[in-house]
Amino acid sequence: MTTHLITGAGSGIGAEIADRLWNRGDSLVLLARSVARGTELVERWPGSAVCVADLADPEGLSAAIGGFALPERLDSLVHSAGVGEMAPLADATAALWQHVLSVNLIAPALLTAACLPALRRATGTVIFINSGAGLSSGPGWSPYSSSKFGLKALADSLRAEERAGGVRVTSVYPGRTATPMQQALHAYEGAPYDPTRWIQPGTVAAAVVDVIDLAPDAAVDDVTIRPR
Ligand SMILES: NC(=O)c1ccc[n+]([C@@H]2O[C@H](COP(=O)([O-])OP(=O)(O)OC[C@H]3O[C@@H](n4cnc5c(N)ncnc54)[C@H](OP(=O)(O)O)[C@@H]3O)[C@@H](O)[C@H]2O)c1
Repeated sequence: MTTHLITGAGSGIGAEIADRLWNRGDSLVLLARSVARGTELVERWPGSAVCVADLADPEGLSAAIGGFALPERLDSLVHSAGVGEMAPLADATAALWQHVLSVNLIAPALLTAACLPALRRATGTVIFINSGAGLSSGPGWSPYSSSKFGLKALADSLRAEERAGGVRVTSVYPGRTATPMQQALHAYEGAPYDPTRWIQPGTVAAAVVDVIDLAPDAAVDDVTIRPR
């Protein structure tokens, strides 16, 4: 049985990835921020296992993973959960920095470390949903971009560390994608939101599934996807 652990399956890109993998009969382990959210996810993808943890709380996350029976083998670990909080540096509070870095960078690091034994057994693939903002930044983007630049560094280090063992590591850099996060970003920017202008979340999900399914003789290190 092919098994995937996915964060952020409750919305946007992560939900589309979960849909595609569940619909073809793969087994899902989903990380949900609360028991109520976990129940919703199991109703949507029956048979899935749920680990309840708030990614904004690194210590709570470590405790939750420690108390959870991870599968013996993981074919993929997909980090899609993320927060897109924006602020100019002058206005960014310590709490905002802590929140963005915890969810977008520290949590993926801790969760990946915990899943490595299962990924190694399956010579699996780790996929980090990064962002175009993980490659270049601009005004108002410093907390989010910093977290995503950090996520790129994490992926690059991990790829080098795991190459000999066969675990593949891919960073996916989508441009603006029509999800609730993008809608909130438009509200911050004071711009009208037209989801048809942007990449559809299913398009990113299809690319992610292609990376998971890649033949074993190759690895895709980076995928950049931009609105056409
Ligand atoms: N949308 C874009 O334009 C865009 C562009 C480039 C990159 N990205 C990246 O793509 C990824 C997916 O984003 P999206 O656009 O699909 O956003 P989204 O629709 O807002 O979904 C974000 C997901 O992250 C989960 N999450 C957030 N904080 C969490 C926490 N503290 N604990 C557990 N789960 C938490 C949410 O959980 P709930 O379901 O419980 O709310 C939700 O499922 C993110 O990493 C984002 O940075 C997005």
